[in-house]
Amino acid sequence: MRAIITGVGHYVPDNILTNQDLEKMVDTNDEWIISRTGIKERRILDKDKGTSYIAAKAAKSVLEQTNTAADELDLIIVATSTPNMLVPSTAAFVQNELNATNCWGFDINAACAGFIYALATAAQFIETGKHNKIMVIGADKMSAIINYEDRNTCLIFGDGGGAVLLEPSNEEDKLGVEDYIFHLEGSGAKYLNMPAGGSLFPASHETVDKKMHYVFQDGKKIFKYAVTEMSDVSIKIMEKNRLTGKDIKLLIPHQANLRIINAVAKKMGLTHDQVMINIEKYGNTTAGTIPIAMSEAYEKKMMSKGDWIIISTFGAGFTSGSLLLKWALD
Ligand code: UT7
Repeated sequence: MRAIITGVGHYVPDNILTNQDLEKMVDTNDEWIISRTGIKERRILDKDKGTSYIAAKAAKSVLEQTNTAADELDLIIVATSTPNMLVPSTAAFVQNELNATNCWGFDINAACAGFIYALATAAQFIETGKHNKIMVIGADKMSAIINYEDRNTCLIFGDGGGAVLLEPSNEEDKLGVEDYIFHLEGSGAKYLNMPAGGSLFPASHETVDKKMHYVFQDGKKIFKYAVTEMSDVSIKIMEKNRLTGKDIKLLIPHQANLRIINAVAKKMGLTHDQVMINIEKYGNTTAGTIPIAMSEAYEKKMMSKGDWIIISTFGAGFTSGSLLLKWALD
C-alpha cells in the first residue's frame, strides 16, 4: 500500500505587507531586502484570527477539490509553530471548524520542517492500512510572534498555509511517498527560537519586557546550516534512490531565502525551471511554505502524474529533511 497525494490547496490572507511598508517601520530598504532574501511582500492575518483559520481554509479547499466530505477524514495533522493556543492542539480547532466528525488529530511542532514530518507521519498510517483519508496541513501565523521593530526577522516571515489529502493507492507504477531522510540537531536550538511562553520561561512581566515572546534568530548561522544541510540531505536522497538531477521534475524547497534555494539547487545540479519559487510573494510562512508552493506548482501544471518530486527543508531545532515522492495527480 502506498500513500499518495490526491488533492492539494492553500490559503494566504489578503492583507499584504510590502518592503515599502517595512521601510517605514525599521531601518531597511526594498533593494537590500530583495537582494539579500528575494522577498518583495508577505501576507498578514487579521489580529483576531488564529492559525486554525488559515489551516481550515486550506483544508476546505482540498475537501472541495477532491469531492470529499469532512466526515470521511480519519485523521488531521497540523504542522505549526504558532498554534492557536498551547493547549488544545490546533488540529482540534480545525476538526471543529470542518465538522470532521469521525477523526482524531494532533499537531506537529518541527518549525519549517513541520509539513514534511507530518506528511511522512501520515504516510505510515496509510501504508499500514490503518487509515484511508488523512488531511495533512502546514500553517503558521508568524506575525503573532514577530517583533516588527527587529529588522533581522520582521522582513523574512509571513502568514499562510496549505494542505494535502493523503490516500492509499495500489497502482502498479508505485506513485506517492517513496522515501525520506530527516534529521534533528538540537544543538541548533539556541540559534532560532522563541524563548518564552513555554514551561521553561512561562509568560511574566519580565518575559514581556525582555521581548522573549518574539522569534530570535542568528541569521548567519542558520544560513550556513541551511545551505549545507539542505543540499546534503537532498543529494543523499537522490543517490539512495539512484536518481540524478536530470530525473527530478521539480524541487519544492522551503522558502526561507532565495540565495539559500539557489545554492541548494545548484549543488543538486538542477536548472531554474526545475525549482518551485514563490518566496517573493509570501516570504517565509514556516510550516506553510511547502504546501503553498506545492499547491501553486500544481495550479501552474509544473508536474504531471509519475514525475519525481523532491521536497527539501530546514528549520528551528535544527530540523532538516528531504522527502521523495512520485506525483500522483494528472
Ligand atoms: O526558516 C528559517 C528562518 N531563518 C532563516 O532562514 C535566516 C537565514 N539567514 C538569512 O536569511 C540572512 O542571514 C538574513 C537575511 C537574516 C541577513 O542577511 P545577511 O546577508 O546575513 O546580512 P548580515 O546580517 O550579514 O548583514 C549584512 C549588512 C550589514 O551591514 P554592513 O556591516 O555590511 O555595513 C548589516 O548591518 O546588511 C546590514 N543589514 C541590513 N540592511 C538593511 C542587516 N539587516 C538589514 C536589513 N536592512 N534588514
